[in-house]
Amino acid sequence: MDKMKLAVIGGSGLYELEALEDRRWVSVDTPWGAPSDEILTGTLGGVEMAFLPRHGRGHVHSPSEVPYRANIDALKRLGVTDVISVSACGSFREEMAPGDFVIVDQFIDHTFARDKSFFGTGCVAHVSVAHPTCPRLGDACHAAAREAGVRVHRGGTYLAMEGPQFSTMAESRMYREAWGADVIGMTNMPEAKLAREAELCYASVAMVTDFDSWHPDHGAVEISDIIRVMSGNGDKARRMIGRLPFLLGTQRDRCPHNCDRALEHAIMTAPD
Ligand code: ADE
Repeated sequence: MDKMKLAVIGGSGLYELEALEDRRWVSVDTPWGAPSDEILTGTLGGVEMAFLPRHGRGHVHSPSEVPYRANIDALKRLGVTDVISVSACGSFREEMAPGDFVIVDQFIDHTFARDKSFFGTGCVAHVSVAHPTCPRLGDACHAAAREAGVRVHRGGTYLAMEGPQFSTMAESRMYREAWGADVIGMTNMPEAKLAREAELCYASVAMVTDFDSWHPDHGAVEISDIIRVMSGNGDKARRMIGRLPFLLGTQRDRCPHNCDRALEHAIMTAPD
């Protein structure tokens, strides 16, 4: 058994976790540069926690500029074992309405201007991301959201777009009808791929703020609408996070889905 150390990466509208006890904002250096902000460490229900605001306090990093590699590396250096991504998203499904949470289990990575790997020249590795999220951690998020009284959907495909502009209506319809995506956001990739390379369990809680631009009864996405829904979603996210320590406990077994052994058969480069 290992000690559980749970990280939450907070998206738009979630920049603080006030409920953490023994709180300390710590600065962590990485070979990939500085993370988005200092990282808040503490405990919740006896479980060690770390919280990182993805866009930084004050929302200073755009989705393309978030230092994804530094963020994941910094969490790894702090001894984190499990990462929960919390982020805002648009919905392509009538039944996934603003205010609902979606426990994402698949991604389409449509981003193109981001560093996507810790590996490259000198050490080449190819990890599998066929199943990019950890089912055990996703189940815990699902149960926690239900206990928090949130309308939540278990499973969904997240289209990660580059941004910062929202999609055109033609793109929105294509993602929904031809590509089969359920939700859209700008930040879960390459974060999920990097978490797998770092052998961290990763789950994504996507909080619906809008219907993107495909819906005939809803107009274009406006940031003011997103912010309004987001502040309610932030309270729900805090309630959900508050349930997680009781569902996950202070200790953890090896991941039954092998997230924590992702590199075992992935490195191509011969050791020195
Ligand atoms: N984040 C919240 N809503 C979004 C949308 N419609 N598209 C991309 N990112 C989003």
